[in-house]
Amino acid sequence: MDDLFLRAVRCETTPRPPVWLMRQAGRYLKEYRDLKEKYSFLELCKQPDLASRITLLPIQKFSFDAAILFADILLILETIRRKISFGEDQGPRVEPLQNPADVFRCVPEPIPTAMAPIGETIKILKKELKVPLLGFAGAPFTLATYLIEGKTSKDFLLTKKWMYRHPEAFHRLLRLLTDQTIEYLKFQIESGVDAVQIFDSWAGILPYPLLHPFSLYYLGEIIQALKPFRIPVILFARGSSLFGRELALLRPEAISLDSSGDLLKIAEILPPEIALQGNFDPDLLIAPEETLRNELLRILRGIKNRPGYIVNLGHGVKPESRVENVRCLVETVKNMSY
Ligand code: CP3
Repeated sequence: MDDLFLRAVRCETTPRPPVWLMRQAGRYLKEYRDLKEKYSFLELCKQPDLASRITLLPIQKFSFDAAILFADILLILETIRRKISFGEDQGPRVEPLQNPADVFRCVPEPIPTAMAPIGETIKILKKELKVPLLGFAGAPFTLATYLIEGKTSKDFLLTKKWMYRHPEAFHRLLRLLTDQTIEYLKFQIESGVDAVQIFDSWAGILPYPLLHPFSLYYLGEIIQALKPFRIPVILFARGSSLFGRELALLRPEAISLDSSGDLLKIAEILPPEIALQGNFDPDLLIAPEETLRNELLRILRGIKNRPGYIVNLGHGVKPESRVENVRCLVETVKNMSY
């Protein structure tokens, strides 16, 4: 296996930084949109032959240095018996918990049976791939926002109301989600993934005093539970540019940074033994190629002497992104003289 990505996650010196993109298999690809004509998003996630094919699409097309399992962070909510759906253009919908007392009635299903298709997809991919495969899960706090709001929220007012008025039920929910997530990530590791990424997409909405008790505490538990498996854990959070130091205290192998901070300054303050990933503005994928290339070269030159940098975006590839720009990004990383 070409392990450039794994060496960079472990902060070993590499001839160049590896590159992969969050949402590298998605709607900006015509091949993906064609499949969506025939199958729903949930069907694509749950049919191992399709999910593995989609995972491979961007690897075959652009030669990324790592693949990420095609699935979604919300699938795990079905294992606590909530219905989920993905409509066209309106984002995901989750059958919301109507009141805090519902939490105490949640009975989780065992992961290996409920998530069997995901295990199958991983096994198919491990036979096909020559680059490392990333598994992933949503962070408990981010999953909780979907369970409470029922969708991607603008102000997260229901979530905040639960946190302030029903902290006991909220923590019970986070406990449940943490335990399920640990089981899910262990299952992915046992099925064959080479590293995992945890997405705390909405941690950034928490006021600072609530960040640790409602998000970081549970992230730390997940990271500790996975240590015996010796598999790299990458933490992504929107807001990570602001609270990278707090994330570093949880001892993940890598932190995936959003686009709001200065990568080079953040690199100076975070411990050198933690790899950094991302920070590149996703909207450069709709910019003129020259703008994209110049900005990328600036970052690559600036970070060159720090072992442990993985090229990625500050958030996922948007559907409007240009395929040519994605190709330009990968080629710029691969062809720069280091
Ligand atoms: O990165 C990858 O290519 C792997 C697959 C992956 C998807 N979602 C596929 C997807 C991963 C890692 C995710 C993570 C995910 N899902 C997150 C965390 C990262 C982030 O974006 O902050 C979140 C919050 C979700 C929940 C979710 N799923 C949302 C908010 C949406 C709608 C927004 C959107 O981009 O469409 C989805 C749908 C979704 N997940 C799609 C894909 C390819 C689009 C589905 C479609 O084709 O209609």
